[in-house]
Amino acid sequence: LDNGVSRTPPMGWNTWNTFGCNINESLIRQMADSIVSSGMADAGYKYVVVDDCWFNPNRDSAGNLQSDPSRFPSGMKALGDYLHSKGLKFGIYQVPVDKTCAQYFSSYPGATGSQGHEYQDAQQFAAWGVDYLKYDWCSPNGSIDDQVTAFAKMRDALASTGRPIVYSINPNSIHEKTGPMRNWGDVANIWRTTEDITSSWDTGQTNGYPMGVKNIVDVTARLAAYAAPGSFNDPDMMEVGIGSMSDTEMRSHFALWAIMASPLIAGNDIRNMSWATRTILTNSNLIAINQDTLGLQGVEIQNDGTRRVMVKKLANGDVAVALFNQGNSATTITTTAAAIGKSGSDFNLLDAWSGTTSSTSGVISANVPAHGTVVYRVSGGSALAGTSLVSASASRCLDD
Ligand code: DGJ
Repeated sequence: LDNGVSRTPPMGWNTWNTFGCNINESLIRQMADSIVSSGMADAGYKYVVVDDCWFNPNRDSAGNLQSDPSRFPSGMKALGDYLHSKGLKFGIYQVPVDKTCAQYFSSYPGATGSQGHEYQDAQQFAAWGVDYLKYDWCSPNGSIDDQVTAFAKMRDALASTGRPIVYSINPNSIHEKTGPMRNWGDVANIWRTTEDITSSWDTGQTNGYPMGVKNIVDVTARLAAYAAPGSFNDPDMMEVGIGSMSDTEMRSHFALWAIMASPLIAGNDIRNMSWATRTILTNSNLIAINQDTLGLQGVEIQNDGTRRVMVKKLANGDVAVALFNQGNSATTITTTAAAIGKSGSDFNLLDAWSGTTSSTSGVISANVPAHGTVVYRVSGGSALAGTSLVSASASRCLDD
């Protein structure tokens, strides 16, 4: 979406993966403080997104949204001001239908969706200083055409405010998985490709609830052709630092999100994250690959069911290569400079995790642990004529 924002994938933190409905303004202020003091803000994490459950169940007499008076007694404008005072950005959650997911599942009172209030709500968000809207289709009803109409309506309502606001949509909540069925780049800055992530490596499904990391990669890797500055596939907020995936799996999760040009929205409790989690989330080599200004998603050039290779062209002529082992034992994964679109005989490989460099005349290879991902930033040589890693077409089918 060409609305001036999110020219590279947005980075930030969201309340949902750790706190669900248990949120309030003091939690979010504490998290903002920790995002700054931990170095996450300096690493690029800027958007602090208040997900579901911030609502007063009743609009005011003029039909305006209000925040829950006990959870957010100072109001949303004050919260936005606080975040801005810390150099952060303010994100908020809403739905295009009548009920939010928490309201739909009736644990949270009210029916405060934006349906029929789109322009009024967009004005309200702008007045509160909102910089990012997560807009979540929380309904089993509606065709994909209905979704396009409703999501485009809020796109236009946000544009009418004149405030730059990142527009994040999810077409998949309690709904058939329409996220990956079209290129939503004309509608939103980022669009969810699957149902909700959970802190699991493999939940054994590509179109159900919930989704493991590897399963989300299976869906999202096919959609590389949709990514462009301002428009990115969204494989959901990260589970790095949450639950019991191994350190290797947590690293793979982050590395694959990075090379897929995915939004990097942390979901863990930043106030007490481990050093290992912090090290993963702030890896500057991977963040640079993710935030590269060409805005391309890594294209999968090899997948034999175990050994997978994704390749992302970068603005300075370098190419990022992810060697991803989805098998259950260590294996060597190999590609070549020619296969990633480079000619020449002298290349430098920067290992994104270790920070060490090595040279090669063309073979790019690593022994990769089970569920691990090695990422190299390859420099040297020149672009090979006739190869394009940009024009790989998206394959939309979800039926396997
Ligand atoms: C479904 C979304 O996919 C989640 O990320 C979260 O926003 C919940 N809805 C909130 O109800």
